[in-house]
Amino acid sequence: MEFINLKAQYEKMQSEINQEIKKCLSKADFIMGTAIDEFEHQLAKYVGVKHAITCGSGTDALQLIYMAYGIGEGDAVFCPDMTFIASVEPACLLGATPVLCEIDSNTYNIDASSLERQIKRVLEEGNLKPRAVVAVDFLGRPAEYDEIRKITNKYEILLIEDAAQGIGAFYGQSACGSLGDIGATSFFPSKPLGAYGDGGAVFTNNDTIADRIRSMRVHGKGTSKYENICIGINSRLDTIQAQILLVKLKYLEEEILRRQTIAKIYDCKLQSLVKVPPYNATGRSAYAQYVVLLKETVNREHFRNYLAQHNIPSIVYYPNPLHRLPVFHNINTYGESYAITEQYSETNVGLPFSPYLTNEEQDKVISTIKDYDFLYGGH
Ligand SMILES: Cc1ncc(COP(=O)(O)O)c(C=O)c1O
Repeated sequence: MEFINLKAQYEKMQSEINQEIKKCLSKADFIMGTAIDEFEHQLAKYVGVKHAITCGSGTDALQLIYMAYGIGEGDAVFCPDMTFIASVEPACLLGATPVLCEIDSNTYNIDASSLERQIKRVLEEGNLKPRAVVAVDFLGRPAEYDEIRKITNKYEILLIEDAAQGIGAFYGQSACGSLGDIGATSFFPSKPLGAYGDGGAVFTNNDTIADRIRSMRVHGKGTSKYENICIGINSRLDTIQAQILLVKLKYLEEEILRRQTIAKIYDCKLQSLVKVPPYNATGRSAYAQYVVLLKETVNREHFRNYLAQHNIPSIVYYPNPLHRLPVFHNINTYGESYAITEQYSETNVGLPFSPYLTNEEQDKVISTIKDYDFLYGGH
């Protein structure tokens, strides 16, 4: 059984994808080709924003955002303690200081009250200027934007949405990617909208920022490639990836609906054995991953080994809160407690999940977890 069945997805879309790749090869249209414009146009429409600007990865998308807003030394960037390092890593690269916030015990997304506490502490200390919060749609579930927005408005800081895991999700009527002042996503192959290599995009309604990012993704180009107006980077989505993504975008909605169905079955069948992901009544999760929390009495490695013995792969998302990473061993926590993040990191397990998980495979995962509980529950 595959953890995420990308091979089955390819099988389904094979003839269309192969045709698109061939087109690109025969036209030798590799860099900033016509498919880029078309994909950006369709993606902006799907997300409901004026500009979707593609680039080399989700990490680059975030870096371009931090660069475009001039975030750097002396700036504090607030980030949930439970996310992939790339949410805040590019800000660190530019000299800014990450300030980590506790997560909410129900949603595992940034806790708005922790965010406000950390902003106040930074202001009291007076060494850094609160500049931005990067809210993450963790595991595909939208962060609590109404609450976060109140705080970013109050303290006049930028709201960046890291929707790397959130494409296909909705917060109320709004698509993830469109919920911040600016947003980023990733087309890493395992993401809800994944390419066959690296890729990413920035989402914004701001024309000036969009122009700046379009320039910065190509060495700060001006009206022409060799008339550079600012310092940028080289971060373009390959045309071939845009062509693949155009095919995949057609099937995204159908896939996201299938994700809802599979998640509901897991929810129903597993809720007495593990803590299942929170249900999203207003809006929807993209279920980038289906992650459960084990009871504290269950030894995670023992549980995962049992699954592995039955050929069921599992992954921990993520084993370490950011404050526990060696690279951040000196980070100023401002006295914040990360007890919820720690508990989450110690008990979470991602189960096999994708729109292409078969009913038989899902039944096997469920029955194996039930067997485990029968044999070892309470250990
Ligand atoms: C929350 C989050 N942010 C950012 C990224 C970075 O995306 P990429 O791998 O495309 O650079 C990822 C990718 O795993 C992610 O999960």
